[in-house]
Amino acid sequence: MDGPSGSGKSSASKGVARALGLRYLDTGAMYRAMTWWMLRSGVPVEDADAVAARAQDPVIVSGTDPDAPSISVDGRDVSEPIRTREVTNAVSAVSAVPAVRARLVELQREIMAGGGIVVEGRDIGTVVAPDAPVKVYLTASEEVRAARRAKDLAADPGASVTVTQAEQARRDRLDSTRKASPLAKAADAHEIDSTELGLAEVIEAVVRLAKEHE
Ligand code: DC
Repeated sequence: MDGPSGSGKSSASKGVARALGLRYLDTGAMYRAMTWWMLRSGVPVEDADAVAARAQDPVIVSGTDPDAPSISVDGRDVSEPIRTREVTNAVSAVSAVPAVRARLVELQREIMAGGGIVVEGRDIGTVVAPDAPVKVYLTASEEVRAARRAKDLAADPGASVTVTQAEQARRDRLDSTRKASPLAKAADAHEIDSTELGLAEVIEAVVRLAKEHE
């Protein structure tokens, strides 16, 4: 399942995994974990060569239980620190570096080889799993996506809807225009617009698609 930030991918893909008894992988969390580690290690994240030189160093481990998603770096649980605005605003630069993508795509494919799984990201249908049996591209209007994001960040006083919308528009622009595996809808992906749909309706639509493919 691919789509821009705030389209509802995380809730939808976890729900689909639960409904179908599959595992779940949040690849965005892996790019965030890599970014958190770069920031913490003092790597200048806007310097692609510096980022590439360290891309092999962090040990990133992702859990696949949709009821208890987990991610650790060098043995430390980073589920919370990877959601800060500092990481969110740096992640597009780090994830545009080809060496970072090569490292994380390899890890993602290793995890996927373990059996049935719902994987969410930006390049899953196009690059990571071009042979996936069901591909979904989830969208929503920019306003609805920003409102959802601002709700996620309610605890952060700097995260008004206006600021969130501007930061999100910047991130989506960077994620969609980068050279390496930009956010894109695969030709054979089913597009679902969640602007006017509730979570349960999105999950139902994806589960229906999955059952059609059985
Ligand atoms: O889904 P998210 O907002 O947590 O993703 C964080 C960032 O990671 C996003 O801005 C782009 C990047 N990303 C990516 O480049 N490729 C993926 N498959 C998933 C995320």
